Amino acid sequence: LLHLQTSSPVRNYFLSDKVSSLELKPVLTVSPSWPSPGASVTLSCEVEPSSAGWRIYWYKAVPDLSHKSYRYELLPGGVAGTMKDSFIIDGQKHTAGFACRAGRGNPEDFTQYSEPKFVWSTDPHPAASLSVSPDREQHFTSESVTLNYGGNSAEWRVMKFSVTGHLIYLRICWAMTGSLCTINRTHSDKSVYWCESKSGEFSAAVNLTVHNEGLLLVSPVHPVTEGASVTLSCRLRGENKLSDVIFYHNDKLIQNDSRGELKISAVSQSDEGFYKCEHSGNVSPQSWMGVKVLPRPEHPSFPVLLVAGLGGLSGKILIILLILLSHCRYLKGP
Ligand SMILES: *[C@@H]1O[C@H](CO)[C@@H](O)[C@H](O)[C@H]1NC(C)=O
Ligand SMILES: *[C@@H]1O[C@H](CO)[C@@H](O)[C@H](O)[C@H]1NC(C)=O
Repeated sequence: LLHLQTSSPVRNYFLSDKVSSLELKPVLTVSPSWPSPGASVTLSCEVEPSSAGWRIYWYKAVPDLSHKSYRYELLPGGVAGTMKDSFIIDGQKHTAGFACRAGRGNPEDFTQYSEPKFVWSTDPHPAASLSVSPDREQHFTSESVTLNYGGNSAEWRVMKFSVTGHLIYLRICWAMTGSLCTINRTHSDKSVYWCESKSGEFSAAVNLTVHNEGLLLVSPVHPVTEGASVTLSCRLRGENKLSDVIFYHNDKLIQNDSRGELKISAVSQSDEGFYKCEHSGNVSPQSWMGVKVLPRPEHPSFPVLLVAGLGGLSGKILIILLILLSHCRYLKGP
């Protein structure tokens, strides 16, 4: 166990000036925790009893495999510290860990480092991938799940961040065999898993839900690429295929028949969201299915640009005609 804290930490400081900085531990928050690739992330650092007068230093967390912890490296732009208690990171692409600490006075007196906080990305990092077997988001308790990062365990480790009830904790996978981490939980748990290397590389993160409900939704762990097909299904403990299943998307019934499977032949962005299934009155927990949107072309192609300049209704009709024309040419071949 690396770090243990409750969501409502009990911290009673007496407002005397005898509190030494080293007894203080700032609390870092990061938002959003699942940014879309390339989005901005805001870090906020709170020092209690008062954030006033502190200079805040911002760090990235680099895994320290030998000490089962992290070491902290100043972020570019965080070197001189900031008088503001928030810090914006632009263009965050990958999973990463952050921390902060505060200092004041001359010579400068520092607080402890905050606990590390993470932003998770679904974007695969070129250096690392994490696969899950069986490949689905939900699992029954006491059924084993294997995570594989396909790397060298002297360089990499698997991490888990769990929010179960009011307990929030971060821990290292303790059942490692080579590059495999095996989970065999006897209690329900919803966690985020990722792998990270001592050189500071992080894989994409996945959500895994372990539960003891009668029914389990089979849904993909990694986001589905726009246009690809996906099939969701439903499972009872120990039984494979079910028919007569009802599927819900964001709590709205979308299929109720005997097929037992929800097939989406070309996934679009509107298919993103929470799914769950129901069979004979049993309802599974819900899981998030992400959709990876393909980059759109940045500029409209030449004829559309030209016609858009005309504006008005005639312009719009011309655009439609041109699109139809290009489709016809495409169908007829070169
Ligand atoms: C994990 O779940 C959260 C919502 O609980 C969602 O925002 C996020 O995109 C999910 N991540 C993946 C990889 O599906
Ligand atoms: C699903 O369909 C069955 C058979 O048509 C029907 O009896 C049942 O009420 C439907 N369930 C829901 C939740 O609409």
